[in-house]
Amino acid sequence: MSPFAYRDGVLHAEGVALPRIAEAVGTPLYCYSGTAIAAAYDEFATAFAGLPATICYALKANGNQAVIATLAERGAGADVVSGGELRRALRAGVPPRKIVFAGVGKTPPELAAGLAAGILQFNVESLPELAALNQVALAAGKRATVALRINPDVDALTHAKITTGKAENKFGIALDQALAAYRTAASMPGLDVAGIAVHIGSQLTGLEPFRAAFRRVAELAAALRSAGHAIRRLDLGGGLGVAYEGGERPSVAAYAAIARSEVAPLGCELVLEPGRRLVAEAGVLVARVVYVKQGTGRRFVILDTGMNDLLRPALYDAYHPILAVRAPADGAAVAPVDIVGPVCESADSFAKDRPMPPLAAGDLVAFGVAGAYGAVMSSTYNARPLPAEIMVRGDDFAVVRERQDIDMIIDQDRLPEWLAPPALARGAA
Ligand code: LLP
Repeated sequence: MSPFAYRDGVLHAEGVALPRIAEAVGTPLYCYSGTAIAAAYDEFATAFAGLPATICYALKANGNQAVIATLAERGAGADVVSGGELRRALRAGVPPRKIVFAGVGKTPPELAAGLAAGILQFNVESLPELAALNQVALAAGKRATVALRINPDVDALTHAKITTGKAENKFGIALDQALAAYRTAASMPGLDVAGIAVHIGSQLTGLEPFRAAFRRVAELAAALRSAGHAIRRLDLGGGLGVAYEGGERPSVAAYAAIARSEVAPLGCELVLEPGRRLVAEAGVLVARVVYVKQGTGRRFVILDTGMNDLLRPALYDAYHPILAVRAPADGAAVAPVDIVGPVCESADSFAKDRPMPPLAAGDLVAFGVAGAYGAVMSSTYNARPLPAEIMVRGDDFAVVRERQDIDMIIDQDRLPEWLAPPALARGAA
């Protein structure tokens, strides 16, 4: 059940009316339901109960400390893809033994940081990375536990920009190079080769590509074992989708059933890396209408949030539901409008010809299914400070990231000595 629902004609997050939050912290703001995040994790944990599985939240989907801590408290581990994400996971209380480090371009300092933290495993994506990790481990007098990320050449049937498991994608090691790569890895004294990792893409709405990929992983595991490699862990990646446009979304239980039938018989430990599915539906982006402008044949609703806050529509033509925070009166006419941001780019458009109830300057709107790949992909383009983030639990809410202060951003710039100090002091009129 969605944590966002109308009560007395006003959209609430759990027990808190969104206008109350908007009054308190201003707009735009991201608002997350802690209860919904915990429930999404529990659904995964229940579906995989009885299997030796660690659910490593892919914190690229939403790296807010409160989000990670909510999941860590339920028992989640973390899938990180940079030294920065590693720090985020550790600081939010994720045990190092539940952290996997993925990514195609981990630098030696990042590898060293993971090793020093004592993480569960590195998912290595190339021979040069194997060599680099071996070096780093030997220098530290340690052995790094690794899985090799295999590219199974399976079409995830999702958006091209979030497909990762096809041969033409930059990710992983090609299946036909895998045996040789494992041989190389096994010869490196700084590495303990534990398993295989796979991830074929994100926002998968059909389950068959998972079945195809898991089957290839299982076949490879069997072949590697015959070749003398002690494969004991399989990382099945993330990718399970949500329903941005409403309707059915793939079931976590059915996804788990595929893992049970395709890979469980191998008796390996399992790692899962869900991101979007744990947080997307638990978040909204709340914004205010600045102007409504009638163009030639089009009506534009101009918001105080833009592509810098929510990039998905501009980058992937992604659809997000957009709701009027105050429910329209019964029988209010719905008419198509273009919903746009203030950024100076034509791509700064959230929806074209979206049927909406009447909206006027000052009204609040909420973008649904915005808890994943929303705040994390935001930028300060056009010198727009990053939005505030809020977490709700029951009737309480807390600011979990302050809105950025523009002067703090500007203060990070430095003038070279050949330029005079600014004539106007900071804050002067
Ligand atoms: N594991 C690996 C190795 C990944 O590359 C990803 C996502 C995940 C796990 C988590 O996938 P999820 O369960 O969230 O689908 N910015 C895009 C999504 C990019 C996903 C990148 N990798 C979007 O807004 O749709």
